[in-house]
Amino acid sequence: MTSIATADQPAILGGNRAVTLDGKDAQRWPIITDEDVAAVTEVLRSGELSLHPITQELEADYRDFLGVRHALAYANATSGIFAALNSFGLKPGDEVIVPSATYWASVMPVLWCGAVPVFCETEPDQLGLDPDDVAAKITPKTRAMVVVHLWGMPSKMDELLAVAKKHDLKVLEDASHSHGAKYRGKFTGTFGDAAVFSLQTNKLAPAGEGGILVTESDDIFENAQCLGHFERVLALKTPARRFAGTGFGLKHRMAPLSAAVARVQLRHLAQRNARRNENIRYLSQRLQKLGINTFLPPEHIERVYFMYILENVESRTGLKTDQLVKALQAEGCEAIQPRYPLLHQQPVFSEDKFIEIARLGHMPRESLPIYRPDALPITTAGNERLFHLPSFPCAEKDLLDQYALAFEKVIGAAPRIAAAGD
Ligand SMILES: Cc1ncc(COP(=O)(O)O)c(C=O)c1O
Repeated sequence: MTSIATADQPAILGGNRAVTLDGKDAQRWPIITDEDVAAVTEVLRSGELSLHPITQELEADYRDFLGVRHALAYANATSGIFAALNSFGLKPGDEVIVPSATYWASVMPVLWCGAVPVFCETEPDQLGLDPDDVAAKITPKTRAMVVVHLWGMPSKMDELLAVAKKHDLKVLEDASHSHGAKYRGKFTGTFGDAAVFSLQTNKLAPAGEGGILVTESDDIFENAQCLGHFERVLALKTPARRFAGTGFGLKHRMAPLSAAVARVQLRHLAQRNARRNENIRYLSQRLQKLGINTFLPPEHIERVYFMYILENVESRTGLKTDQLVKALQAEGCEAIQPRYPLLHQQPVFSEDKFIEIARLGHMPRESLPIYRPDALPITTAGNERLFHLPSFPCAEKDLLDQYALAFEKVIGAAPRIAAAGD
């Protein structure tokens, strides 16, 4: 008997696609308007393309936005993270607690400070460092932790800060994904000893390339200026002024053309975050009912959506994550399975290349960590269940309705789809 395509026949089994609207405009990012063009043009016409005051104006904007004492603009967040960690005074072989499920730039600068990362499990609610695993992995060599507010969801700050306080650890917040997110009414980026935001093109307040380091600490700010902004050292009123002739040997300042874009984008952050949130909340409420964990935040958290990450709860959807993603793609959804590759499994760690990068060859091998790819079973299993959809920065409801319909069709036909895939 040949099967007849009905409205709810999933596309992967020969039915029609649920998503017929063109999603290109719905996903347009960054949003560039005449305001950005005018700001860039003004800097261009000034002829001052290296040390234009707009960079300091951007820093002032970030200070006002977050209510922090210092902000310093970088060529990218990676260099800001390095400067922040360097200012913690890490010594060879010191240990820094980090997540494995993050972008490499949250972790790799640890090595350039001569320290070593200690990878901890990701907790399943907010996808941040698991405070219990962090506490379990503290040793006499632990000096700091890098907290990443992954995908725009604030980490469990109360618990993590309690561990940090108990063991006298420095805290760096990698807020690259979380511009505008709040934890108990306070912005991410204002909890740690220092925090860094990325302004790379995909991020929530983009500048093309750029990073912003923020801190309350005069010492961290001074050290960071010496490391990457030698031209500012002469203006210091502390003994560090004597380093003005050399800085600490690196130059990491932001290009003013990026600062021009960043100022405009920051002005629109709240309203553009609100649009993503409204769209994603609308769709999430429908997907939650179908057995998809959409990471809707608990009440004390105002999350933002750098990316729309979802978790397939197989016991409820009846499909393995790859089956679900393939069936959604057949419906016309932009569903993608790969997330960040777990860092503790990367050859730079499993093949001991980290020892060379961190210049720790003089230390006895047994005093340094051994990175086992099969460590972190919870993070590894959790990562397999994740996939992402577009974050719908400009979408209208009709497209979101089509996405919801695609999920309903696919999950409604789960037994048949699973059987077809066997
Ligand atoms: C979590 C995280 N940290 C740090 C970075 C580094 O940012 P940048 O590209 O500005 O160096 C990124 C960039 O994508 C990131 O996703």
